[in-house]
Amino acid sequence: MLVTGGAGYIGSHTTRQLIDAGYELTVVDTLYSGHRWAIPEKVDFHQLDAGDVDGMARLLEKGQIEAVIHFAGHIVVPESVRNPAKYYRNNVIASMNLIGACRQSGVGLFVFSSSAAVYGNPEKVPVSEEMTTLPINPYGRTKLITEWNLRDVAASSQSSAGGAFRYIALRYFNVAGARFDGTLGQATPEATHLIKVACETALGKRDSLAIFGTDYDTPDGTCIRDYIHVEDLATAHLDALQYLADGGSSETLNCGYGRGYSVREVLATVRSVSGVDFPIIETARRPGDAPQLIADNRRILEVLGWLPQHDELKEICRTAWKWERRYQDHSPAAPVQSTELG
Ligand code: UD1
Repeated sequence: MLVTGGAGYIGSHTTRQLIDAGYELTVVDTLYSGHRWAIPEKVDFHQLDAGDVDGMARLLEKGQIEAVIHFAGHIVVPESVRNPAKYYRNNVIASMNLIGACRQSGVGLFVFSSSAAVYGNPEKVPVSEEMTTLPINPYGRTKLITEWNLRDVAASSQSSAGGAFRYIALRYFNVAGARFDGTLGQATPEATHLIKVACETALGKRDSLAIFGTDYDTPDGTCIRDYIHVEDLATAHLDALQYLADGGSSETLNCGYGRGYSVREVLATVRSVSGVDFPIIETARRPGDAPQLIADNRRILEVLGWLPQHDELKEICRTAWKWERRYQDHSPAAPVQSTELG
């Protein structure tokens, strides 16, 4: 198995589950936003760009890689609006190079990190996979382009000499939380995600948290999202690999729980689990935010037999909060070693 972006947030959680399940892994990561400590020492690790054609070809052509899981990518929506070229280079061109390298070296199974951002502003929720994809920012467009690339490459592979190429694209909804043993969590610098920002504010790393818009057409006026525990998302990748290895056909699948919480509900939960009434201010809407994003997850449950275990907002926030507390006590160079959360 080769994992790109395995030192990042979702990549490192999945890597850990793959190791626990007995897979042999090669991990590549530029360490742009990932951390070397997030990958166990014993793993075959290469500091490399997933779009580096020669470097990736060398790794893939060793002939021992059966499948690639491609996490590496930039994920900050506002940054993608300011600097689209960075997103097209890293999310589109690098992915295209990687898919090409897989074809060259006969790697026929691929799992891709896509995003609910491909839907843009859906006309109704929950949103199902066949609904219109109309991304409203460059980030979402780069994910959708790579989905199209995968679809076309897989279709053409059926009649090509290079062997069949099959893939699963997982459209992540809002990923949060941390590993229960306290050894992994979100360590992205300058994170923008709500639960991470809320935990940082509860710790006093930020003065206050701003709610971006309280005048949406939702019950409490704030946006609604489908928050999914990172450990359940990691499990979906293992299920996807097993499905492909068993001969399953290519699929694009929503990965969420199928229910939503408002920004206010999330903040109340973080306040409750942290015991800190951190300051919250109400500000204008953030451009590019859809009022509601909730997954219709029937397809992933059916196709992969995915069995989410941690569908509880409190559990998501509690693990995120405990990780945040531990993480601030340790520099990135000195990873959390304990197996027990305090
Ligand atoms: C996030 C990711 C995106 C991913 C998507 C999947 C970012 C910026 N966005 O989108 O990569 O594809 O999930 O659905 O990384 N909010 C506040 N105050 C804050 C932070 C957030 O009010 O300080 C609100 C936002 O306006 C939004 C909600 O919280 O309504 C969730 O925001 P966020 O955690 O950034 O995730 P998304 O933008 O939904």
